[in-house]
Amino acid sequence: MNLNRRDFLTLAGGALAGAALRPALALAEPPVRRYRLVAAPAAVDLGLGRGFTAWTYNGAAPGPVLRVVEGETLEVELVNRLPEPTTIHWHGLPVPNAMDGVPGVTQAAVPPGGSFTYRFTAAPAGSYLYHSHQGLQLDRGLYGALIVEPRRPEGGWDQEHILLLEDWATVDGGGPAAVRRRPAGGMMGGMMGRRFADTGQGPPLEPVYDAYAVNGRAWPAVEPVRVRRGDRVRLRLGNPSAVTIYDLMLAGHRLTVLAADGQPVAPFTADVVRLAPGERLDVEFTADNPGNWLLAAYDRGWGESGLKVPVVYRGSEAGEPSPPDFRRGLVLAGYGDLRAAEPRPPRAGGSRLAWRQVLSGGMHSPYWTINGRVWPRAERLAAPLGARVRLAYYNHSPMPHPMHLHGRFFRLVNPQLPPELWLTKDTVLVEPMQGLEIDFLADNPGSWLHHCHNLYHMEAGMANLVEVAA
Ligand code: C2O
Ligand code: CU
Repeated sequence: MNLNRRDFLTLAGGALAGAALRPALALAEPPVRRYRLVAAPAAVDLGLGRGFTAWTYNGAAPGPVLRVVEGETLEVELVNRLPEPTTIHWHGLPVPNAMDGVPGVTQAAVPPGGSFTYRFTAAPAGSYLYHSHQGLQLDRGLYGALIVEPRRPEGGWDQEHILLLEDWATVDGGGPAAVRRRPAGGMMGGMMGRRFADTGQGPPLEPVYDAYAVNGRAWPAVEPVRVRRGDRVRLRLGNPSAVTIYDLMLAGHRLTVLAADGQPVAPFTADVVRLAPGERLDVEFTADNPGNWLLAAYDRGWGESGLKVPVVYRGSEAGEPSPPDFRRGLVLAGYGDLRAAEPRPPRAGGSRLAWRQVLSGGMHSPYWTINGRVWPRAERLAAPLGARVRLAYYNHSPMPHPMHLHGRFFRLVNPQLPPELWLTKDTVLVEPMQGLEIDFLADNPGSWLHHCHNLYHMEAGMANLVEVAA
């Protein structure tokens, strides 16, 4: 254990004040992990030979992987060299409200030329994301992976890879540039003959992405995962894409889900895993089928996504990698298949609240709504500290919505399971014309954003506030 000067002084003081009552170990503060993230425009190249200017942390998109051990303090200095104000949000981590990085809600955005230091205890362990929460900045490249390691190191894997799944418009990343845009209601809206076309008025519609990348490299320039026969390989998959929902499959292998949104689940083996924007899945596979294979994604609404990563065995480098066969009858690891790894009794709550959240929009207007309201003229859902909240989503729209709640985890209500086994998450995909319920404890006081993690839906109004009184 490292003692810094302050710890030493504290220990010395403790010794004078009454050493017998204060064991030295309790006085040693956990170490502080420091990072500096400089947000600035920079030239990027996904390996396609058509460079463009993205917005980056430390010159790259994604930004650096931030690693910290559970219980340590994470301190990140954000330096803003963008032409716009910015913030950083620690997606999924229950941080104190003032550190949550939502401009105009939890802090004033950091102006161009300014800086801000975020500081909080990193817990619980798991795979998270960090990203800008200002306007369309996330889509321009301002995101990265944040890994909170467990205090006791986990073993058993021969290799571990972090794979961030990214949608790109190779003009400005995504964001405000003049690119082709999709109709607001998606293909469904189009088929129903009522889609709202881009008129240049109102909020920006989703771009038509022309490249899909993993860790900033697009096929065929993407970095392969190189394995040896017998390897156990862990993949931390994260989806910081602004829009795209990926159905991922590894040719020649099945994937076993270990954690959803960073929280351990009872291992579940499937052919296909799905990640909506904001979601993370830790999966593993055993390299027991030598060859040259592709991990590839299907984008449900729009077909082949073009996102591909070769998984290459030593000695099988030659030839084209084999793609997965997306066919009927495959097993998808759905929410209903996943349950908590260990029974965790729901924490007691005082009063009980029930909220209804109707998700709608996109058909007759470019706006997306929750209970008919458009952010910032949105609801403020008030809960006393310690209340238990049951929140029911009803998706009355033709598009799926990955809903994300800041400040805490929630559990997915699953009538097939006792509550202590309900899946713990922070982002949940609500399918078109379907409903779904979540349950959470209103701990962690403050004003917390609750929104669709499709960035263009959020920018078009699909957000409101959960206010937990102190
Ligand atoms: Cu990933 Cu409101 O955030
Ligand atoms: Cu949405």
